[in-house]
This record gives sequence, structure tokens and C-alpha cells, in this order.
Amino acid sequence: MTRIFSADSDHIAQAAKLIQDGRLVAFPTETVYGLGASAYDSCAVARIFEAKNRPTFNPLISHIAHTDFLGGYAEVDERVLGLAKRFWPGPLTFVLKRKDMSPALDLACAGLPTVTVRMPNHPVALHLIEASAVPIVAPSANRSQSISPTTAKHVWDSLGERVDMILDGGPCAVGVESTIIDLTGPQVVMLRPGGLAKEDIEDFLNESVLLSAGNPDLPSSPGQMLKHYAPAHPFRINVTIPDPDEFFIGFGGVGQNASLNLSPTGDLCEAASHLFDYLHRADEQTTFSKIAMAPIPNQGLGLAINDRIRRASYRK
Ligand code: TXA
Ligand code: MG
Repeated sequence: MTRIFSADSDHIAQAAKLIQDGRLVAFPTETVYGLGASAYDSCAVARIFEAKNRPTFNPLISHIAHTDFLGGYAEVDERVLGLAKRFWPGPLTFVLKRKDMSPALDLACAGLPTVTVRMPNHPVALHLIEASAVPIVAPSANRSQSISPTTAKHVWDSLGERVDMILDGGPCAVGVESTIIDLTGPQVVMLRPGGLAKEDIEDFLNESVLLSAGNPDLPSSPGQMLKHYAPAHPFRINVTIPDPDEFFIGFGGVGQNASLNLSPTGDLCEAASHLFDYLHRADEQTTFSKIAMAPIPNQGLGLAINDRIRRASYRK
């Protein structure tokens, strides 16, 4: 018994209900199949990383069905709207300055002040997003380090019962991931080549698009920008007994009386869902001059949490 269902109206309605309930649904897009969850449900977003065995928290692409939605989500200007009008729905993803600062979105954005958005050109994807009434974050629906899936069966073979439902919309027409461009600065920078050619974007904008690879002044590959976010306060990890000048973030039984506890019951999904919000809160408070965090077990989602906090605690 697989969890693959034909993408008819009834199954799309069921899938939308699952998304609203915080479950994971794999769905077809024109590029590759995505592993979807509600962008605003950080526990569900944490489960995406768990299902993929992803050892790092990358920012995820929010899939939307209407350009109107963008305005509340991200900073938009004429250039963004022009590109959306010309290339959406389609295999082009924008990195934009984030406007919606709700903590529920923090994990989807990997704690960054940017948000990554696209409108897929697939009727099943669009129908599902509309029926779910939320943006759906979706990385490719495969385990980390394996090839992106272009059929429902690829998804099942890679993720199996880690995904609650797989909507089968047939093979993906484009078959490679979307092109990602960073629109947060004056120059358009391509972070990942993909289903839309650089030349098509340049022809439309009538200006050149920079390639980030190999350019030391630009974020090189997708995910590289993650390194840029670290708390301003000195930050110590694997701490069981904090110093008096440290704002302490506990986990499980360590730090039941801490200022914040990522998960008093020791649930790694819950911990991941709070991680970026708590780091931000710790950095914004003014009572303590430093931050410390309890040890996080190095298994399951703990790998991604530890990767993130190791980088955040790194001081040159
Ligand atoms: O075609 C696609 O884009 C597919 C379908 C499902 O839409 N999605 C996809 O997602 O390929 P994913 O998560 O497998 O790849 C997105 C890449 C990740 O490597 C992520 O690190 C990068 O985009 N990325 C997203 N937001 C970013 C940001 N703000 N800065 C730098 N890299 C970013
Ligand atoms: Mg991928």
C-alpha cells in the first residue's frame, strides 16, 4: 500500500485539510515534486527537515497561488511585480526582503530577514495552495543528498511513510528545480540556475543578471547566506550551568527554570520550531550580556539544530 493518490478534486481537498492540520503532503509542480507544509506551522516545517533527514535548516520556498498575496509577505517593488507578471506562474523563485515577521514563519525563513517565494505553474499545486488558504513551503520531496523527484513514485521510493499523502499529477514537465534570483539588492543575483534561463530574465529586465558562483563579493550558493545570521551577543552552546550574565535557553530537563526552554519535554520537533524565534528573543533582551544554550542531542532533527547553533556561536 502506497500513499499515492490521483490528484482529483476530492483528494486535493483532503490534502488541503492535511496541510491545515500540520501534516506533510507531497505534490507535483512543473519543476519537481515538493514536500509541502503550511508556512505558518513551524512544527510541520520542522517535520519537513526531519522527513528529509536534512542536517541543516535551509530557507524554504513558499509556494503561493496569487501575486496579491506577496504584498503582505515581502517587500515588493516595480521590479518584483514586473518579473512576477512576466514569469509567474513558472520556474522562477525570488528571494525578497521579508515583511511578515511572525515567529511562526521563522523556521521556514531559517531565521533570515528574507523570504523565498514562487508561484508554480501546475494546476494541482495551485489548486492545493488555494484550498489550503496558506502559502505552502516545499523543498524537493526527496531525502537529503538524493536526486529530486519528478514522479509520485520517486517520492514514495525516497520518503515512503514519512509523508502523509502524495498527490500524483504525473511526471513533471520541466524536471529541474526553479531558477532562484535574489532581488534584495540593486543588482539581480542568480543564486541557482534552474528551469528558467538567465537570458530570459536579462532580456526582460534589459540588464545583466550576476551569477553568484565564483564571485567573492556575492553569496555563492543557495544556503551560503545562512552563515550571516548570528546573534550579536556572545553565544555559548552545550551549557548545563549558565553563568549569571547569560540568558539561558534550556532544552528538556536542562534549564527547567531557564528564561526560555526550547522543549520542556525534550521534543526535537518542538525545539526546532522555536529555535530561531528564541535566538531572536535572546538577542533582543537587554537584561543579560550573553546567551547560553543547553546541549541538544545529536540525533534526528538535533543534527540540524546543532549545525545551526554551532554556526551562530562561532566567533572569529
Ligand atoms: O523547483 C523548485 O524550486 C522546487 C519545487 C518544489 O518548487 N523546490 C526546491 O526547494 O528546489 P529546495 O528547498 O530543494 O531548494 C531551494 C534552495 C535551497 O538550497 C535553499 O538553501 C535556497 O534555495 N534558498 C532559499 N532561500 C534562500 C535565501 N534566502 N538565500 C539563499 N538561499 C536560499
Ligand atoms: Mg532540493
